[in-house]
Amino acid sequence: MDAATETELSFARTRRLRQRPALRRLVQETRLDPANLIKPLFVVPGRDRREAIASLPGQFHLSPDQAAVEARRLVGLGVGAVLLFGLPAGKDALGQSGLDPRGPVPEAVRQIRARSPETVVITDVCLCEYTDHGHCGVLDEAGRVDNDRTLSQLARMAEVHAEAGAEIVAPSDMMDGRVGAIRRHLDRGGYTDTAIMSYAAKHASAFYGPFREAAGSAPAFGDRRSYQMDPANGREAMREVMLDAAEGADLILIKPALPALDLIGEARRLVHLPIAAYQVSGEAAMIEAAAQRGWLSRQDAILESLVAIQRAGAQLIVTYFADEVAGWLGAR
Ligand code: PBG
Repeated sequence: MDAATETELSFARTRRLRQRPALRRLVQETRLDPANLIKPLFVVPGRDRREAIASLPGQFHLSPDQAAVEARRLVGLGVGAVLLFGLPAGKDALGQSGLDPRGPVPEAVRQIRARSPETVVITDVCLCEYTDHGHCGVLDEAGRVDNDRTLSQLARMAEVHAEAGAEIVAPSDMMDGRVGAIRRHLDRGGYTDTAIMSYAAKHASAFYGPFREAAGSAPAFGDRRSYQMDPANGREAMREVMLDAAEGADLILIKPALPALDLIGEARRLVHLPIAAYQVSGEAAMIEAAAQRGWLSRQDAILESLVAIQRAGAQLIVTYFADEVAGWLGAR
């Protein structure tokens, strides 16, 4: 054999397996499944309310009865779970309305469990939607977030949600020790089967803007940098993941998603717990805004971003597009 022939024989052609859709499908490594998608819902007090959220196109403020209707629709589409955020009727310094068993979230949990028993219900556990100052914890005299005083509030909120029927509670506050505090409190209350999905590595991110408008949870002063993480710190993020796993988290969540693909991959290698990622409101908003201008194809951009998040290592994805994506996948 002369040298030229030998080169030809050993010539790797990656394009061979890309020649037609059936081949591409055969070798596709990452495939989205609605069962792994989680849809956030924003619950408000009252009845028969379904009001469009200006900052989050396509999302609604739903009263508990309408949240149940929506949950049923989502189950029909095959969406894996709903994640409930609450907008209470009133707020105070301690976030007491978050502990009210008649508040919008516990009420929605009960209605969803009754009218859509298949639905997996996850609830957000955090004070920022319930405090008048908008911080994720209780403040001390100097106006700083008091970590340890916040823990008991969070633990009690988790219990209220568990009592209403939430299968998974999702603390998103970033206080130290809250996973352990919630676990112990739930266990003592008899809720040993209620799982904890911990926002382990959550950045102090610029991408939460539309959500804070939707949830009415923007801090009245300062920012969240004394509790949420510096996006510059990947090793510290892994420390957060390890601590939450050690405290008893059942699932680990990384947030935001696209700006943290490396952390998603690393977390997956670090702990053998299900890894979730949250494609946050600002990530969705970027796609919506660019699509509105005709700068990119909305559907392709959504699917590509979600595949990238899954490929990086997120087995579960919280996304505002969950229902739409489920529809597209079903139609294929
Ligand atoms: C509350 C919370 C926030 C988000 C989820 N839970 C806002 C924040 O931390 O300021 C953001 C979600 C999104 O942007 O879609 N702690």
